[in-house]
Amino acid sequence: MCGIIGYVGRKQAAPLVLEGLRRLEYRGYDSAGLSVLRDGRLHTHKKKGKIDEGLARLLQAQPLEGVLGLGHTRWATHGPPSDENSHPHFDQSGRIAVVHNGVIENYERLKARLPGHTFQSSTDTEVLAHLIGVHYDQLREGKFSGSQVLKSSGGPGAARSPLENLQPENLMTQGAHPLAQAVMGALREVIGAYGLAVICADCPDVLVGARRGSPLIVGVGQGENFLASDATAIATHTREVIYLNDYDVVTLTPERVDVASLGSDTAKVQISKLEFDAEAAERGNFPHFMLKEIFEQPRTVENALRGRLNLDEATANFGGLNMSLAELRAVDRIVIPACGTSWHAALVGEHLFEEFAHLPTEVEYASEFRYRNAPLEKHTLVLVITQSGETADTLAGLRESRRRGHKVLALCNVVGSTIAREADGGIYLHAGPEIGVASTKAFTSQVTALTLLALLMGRIRTLAHSRALQVIRALEAVPRQIETILAQDDAIRQIALKYAQAEDFFFLGRQYNFPVALEGALKLKELSYIHAEGYPAAEMKHGPIAMIDERTPTVILIPADALYEKSFSNLQEIKARQGPIIAVTTEGNTGLAGAVNDVICLPATLEPLFPLLAVVPLQLLAYHIAVARGCDVDKPRNLAKSVTVE
Ligand code: M6R
Repeated sequence: MCGIIGYVGRKQAAPLVLEGLRRLEYRGYDSAGLSVLRDGRLHTHKKKGKIDEGLARLLQAQPLEGVLGLGHTRWATHGPPSDENSHPHFDQSGRIAVVHNGVIENYERLKARLPGHTFQSSTDTEVLAHLIGVHYDQLREGKFSGSQVLKSSGGPGAARSPLENLQPENLMTQGAHPLAQAVMGALREVIGAYGLAVICADCPDVLVGARRGSPLIVGVGQGENFLASDATAIATHTREVIYLNDYDVVTLTPERVDVASLGSDTAKVQISKLEFDAEAAERGNFPHFMLKEIFEQPRTVENALRGRLNLDEATANFGGLNMSLAELRAVDRIVIPACGTSWHAALVGEHLFEEFAHLPTEVEYASEFRYRNAPLEKHTLVLVITQSGETADTLAGLRESRRRGHKVLALCNVVGSTIAREADGGIYLHAGPEIGVASTKAFTSQVTALTLLALLMGRIRTLAHSRALQVIRALEAVPRQIETILAQDDAIRQIALKYAQAEDFFFLGRQYNFPVALEGALKLKELSYIHAEGYPAAEMKHGPIAMIDERTPTVILIPADALYEKSFSNLQEIKARQGPIIAVTTEGNTGLAGAVNDVICLPATLEPLFPLLAVVPLQLLAYHIAVARGCDVDKPRNLAKSVTVE
């Protein structure tokens, strides 16, 4: 959510920042902007709209020179998308530029305490920029007293900054560059989340960054250094990175990286090697990242399985759970907080844990879980699921569970992400970078990893060797089976074209396939803006069936399984009301001829693995419908990848 990049070195900053912003655009594309420093002045372009339609054109018409710069691609929180609300924002003097990811919750109160200041935008970030400017001016005038710049009157019930109780001497400002000191002083007044980059016209080779709640990494180069909200932006420049922790404030010059912590005496600094395949983050010959990622699934499922299957013992092995078999054996309940597509994968996991390991499992919306006093007994295992590893609500769920003394495992794709670093252990998905805003390959990798974990949990309980082996064999076949589904792409596109003008859609499935129905509906609505709902097939008649008519198509997931006849009856109920039906069923099932309008056949597999196959045609259907409607598939309106605000 919002992409940030900053550069200090010897190269021209503007083209480098622009290139980084293009790579970050999946994080937000309401507007984009950048500032560079030249001849003691900040030079800025910023524009509403996607990068290529706005910022890039400005830069082409009027190139900017300078070797210190920062940029931002925005997902609007405070203030609608507009040129004025685009970042960078400036302090009152116009000499300090700030780009920000996150939300300054107390910005209205801070603004009220800046009398005489003129604001150009309606953003929270501009207030922070002014606040930094006030601290900076006071420092220059030699008046700095650490915390007295803006004494909070607060008011009854006013929230307090988590740093408000710190004494000035603990602020780690001693010896820091004045710009960093000003940032630290301002952040002490702030309630909320931030990943920041700051430059000042007075400081030609200083770039300051800070984080709390929103990701920020430092790229360490030779005679140059970088700041970015994620590795995608800088991976082509350096592989040496520092993952900043909350409350870190970093000062970068071309030759130095100094990290201080606002929360403690010393910051923990570790340089890590970036394992990032920059080529994997390219679109290649595909028209969209989403299509590329759908077609990657045979490989990504294979990657999720690689090295984890133990055929001899008919179980799964993991390197990073950091829990002994005895500890896993003691687990008597699993709680899974997650959001969006990851929440849908968790719902498949619920069935898997219950079926394979008889473990009571509850799936929670992370945004609800974090504020609820959910009972977590001693032997409850908290398992968070997230592609990005940065989703704010999921991270908060993890922190709340750990605060209560629970071990938390994470199923995560992005190596080095905040959740991956803060969890007690977990499973990496190894799906490679997912750039399409609509999550696709992450879902199949999550379900694959959940199946493996459920197998392990089952095998240390009651799951028989023979049944587990059956599951393993079926899992091994999945990549090849997905290939056969992808080979039907053209036929699925024809179906998509038939229904592309519908305004409402239903997706139905039972048991393991209900979460797939939810996922199919989510894909369709987020990409094509068609109203779509997912339901358990039999639930339709409790109300939603009132919506069915000849203009409202229903996609029904109806494998030839134990509940086939039941689902078939539900299908008849739709047909009786003239609703067009697209059935997703098992190869060889001829019983649907005449009963439905369109059929997509999938290879036979075990019931618990059907979601891994069934989701693929639904992804393709949503993709082709969106393309047919002229929607921007990789940048759907109002969305952003990786939701780092509450
Ligand atoms: O990175 P995460 O898996 O934590 O993200 C969760 C959701 O924000 C994400 O799945 C979102 O729903 C996608 N747009 C779905 O396609």
